[in-house]
Amino acid sequence: MRRVLVMTDTPGLSVAVVGVGYWGSKHLRVLGGFPEVHTVAVDPRLPTMPDYAHLLAQGRGFTDLTEALPHVDAVVVATHPTSHAPLGHQALAAGKHVLVEKPLATTAADARSLVAAADAAGMVLMVGHTFEHNPAVWLLRELVQDDQFGDVYFIESERLNLGLYQSDVNVILDLAPHDISIANFVLQSEPTSVTTWASRHVHPLHEDVAQLRLLYEDIGVEATLHVSWLHPQKVRRSVVVGTHQMAVYDDLGLDERVRLHDKSVEPATDTDLRVSYHLGQVVSPVVQGAEPLAVQDRQFVHSILTGGPPGSDGRAGLAVVRVLEAAQRSLHEGRTVALAEIDAAGEGPVPQPSRGLVNGTANGTANGSANGTTKATGRGSHVWVDPVH
Ligand SMILES: NC(=O)c1ccc[n+]([C@@H]2O[C@H](COP(=O)([O-])OP(=O)(O)OC[C@H]3O[C@@H](n4cnc5c(N)ncnc54)[C@H](O)[C@@H]3O)[C@@H](O)[C@H]2O)c1
Repeated sequence: MRRVLVMTDTPGLSVAVVGVGYWGSKHLRVLGGFPEVHTVAVDPRLPTMPDYAHLLAQGRGFTDLTEALPHVDAVVVATHPTSHAPLGHQALAAGKHVLVEKPLATTAADARSLVAAADAAGMVLMVGHTFEHNPAVWLLRELVQDDQFGDVYFIESERLNLGLYQSDVNVILDLAPHDISIANFVLQSEPTSVTTWASRHVHPLHEDVAQLRLLYEDIGVEATLHVSWLHPQKVRRSVVVGTHQMAVYDDLGLDERVRLHDKSVEPATDTDLRVSYHLGQVVSPVVQGAEPLAVQDRQFVHSILTGGPPGSDGRAGLAVVRVLEAAQRSLHEGRTVALAEIDAAGEGPVPQPSRGLVNGTANGTANGSANGTTKATGRGSHVWVDPVH
């Protein structure tokens, strides 16, 4: 049973953002723009942070979560990945609703225990799968689910840059959560096995270049992901290829974020090895909507206040962490790893992911349909730019 009760004396909802670095500062900005939300910043570096140090004297800033907990109803964890599970547990144990940044945890056991703790306490647990709140990704999902591509053959994604080397995790745990969550969300499925290739070039411990092959055996689809911190160009691209159509989603494409290619290849006959090509139009649907982080945080607040389901919930977070753990094991053991092996090592059956159509749509509303008005020459309409991830 979900607790909807707001527990502090502060009017409205009081939310602590734990970790006020690159991404946590964005949560503070977004949440601070909601009239019913009162924000509190938590970071050991706060006294030396020019933009936030003044919050300490105002009672709106703390250097650790323990001090902040009595003053808040909910917590956003935006610290380094290895601290997600302990901080999430601390907040849930104190009866707070929690949004944990991606990845939900660094092991499936930790992710599973967060989901169980939130269920037991009746608190909201959400994960920061920002792309599940992105209208371009909603459009891809609707096109796939409406069979516009025909049968999907595969998804390919690239997330490359001269990136920020993380101190506690490798590039797989840092960047692949985005692409795994996109693939799971668009396909409305979860992979059955993972094969990983990765290499270390700069960091002594952490792989900086990796390729993952996810097999969605139940639906006969393969997803290949390429993630890198060591690449001369910034690339954020996903490609969906089906029997009838293909699409390219370029997250850096300011005017044409999604391009649909009416292209396909067919065998001439069952016995003739030659193929025939269908080459139709390229169109770019209008993709319009609010900043995905704002949509995500709005859902978190809404879920707390109304008891409604959060979009990317703890189970969606666990689904991604299972794949990450399988990917790490595949890397270390040099073989394909079945997700069932990860579950066998866990405690009991995997809770069913809840992948309801609770997220918004490609036209930017929270509950409508992704009708994505299509224009032949294609000029997208965009209102946000995410500079890093
Ligand atoms: N959803 C997205 O699109 C997205 C994008 C970028 C980063 N992230 C995630 O956000 C998280 C933070 O990434 P970042 O790039 O902002 O890192 P960062 O290094 O810029 O910031 C982390 C902050 O956490 C603080 N911190 C560390 N331990 C703490 C603790 N115990 N209590 C309070 N504060 C603590 C650090 O002092 C630092 O200010 C990561 O998990 C990352 O994966 C998500």
